[in-house]
Amino acid sequence: MLACNDVPCGKENGGKTKQAMEASSIKDDCDTVCALAPVAYAPVRHHIFVCNGKSCARVGSNEVKEAFRRELIARNLLFSKPAKGGHLKGNIVLTDCSSVGFCAVGAAVLVYPDGVWYAQVRALDVPEIVEEHIVNGRIVERLALLKVPSTGK
Ligand code: FES
Repeated sequence: MLACNDVPCGKENGGKTKQAMEASSIKDDCDTVCALAPVAYAPVRHHIFVCNGKSCARVGSNEVKEAFRRELIARNLLFSKPAKGGHLKGNIVLTDCSSVGFCAVGAAVLVYPDGVWYAQVRALDVPEIVEEHIVNGRIVERLALLKVPSTGK
């Protein structure tokens, strides 16, 4: 785990060369980590993955991801560069993932660290997932198909 505090993320890498950065352990160089991977210092609470595999894309996963992006920006929760609408102290990381095996029941959305895999998610479902699950900590049971770790039942 990184132990640096009060690192002003968003600043440049101080003109360090790639070789200079590789010479020392990246974990010991807070300024460099901050410049290269500001997410390492973000107060991340959840990571939302939206499958962009072919089957999920056919049922609107791109629209689902865009709906998450809009909803999280509107609530000031999205971690991203400010130029992309979020901010560097955002609590929620939103990324694509490739197929997770929910191809026939997509679009698949995974919420971690809770390990909840949602199925048949549509853009219209996104405000409810954000309000219920992300903000209030209540799983949207009507869409939740798997909880990891699973008992396999
Ligand atoms: S394409 Fe999304 S789970 Fe397979």
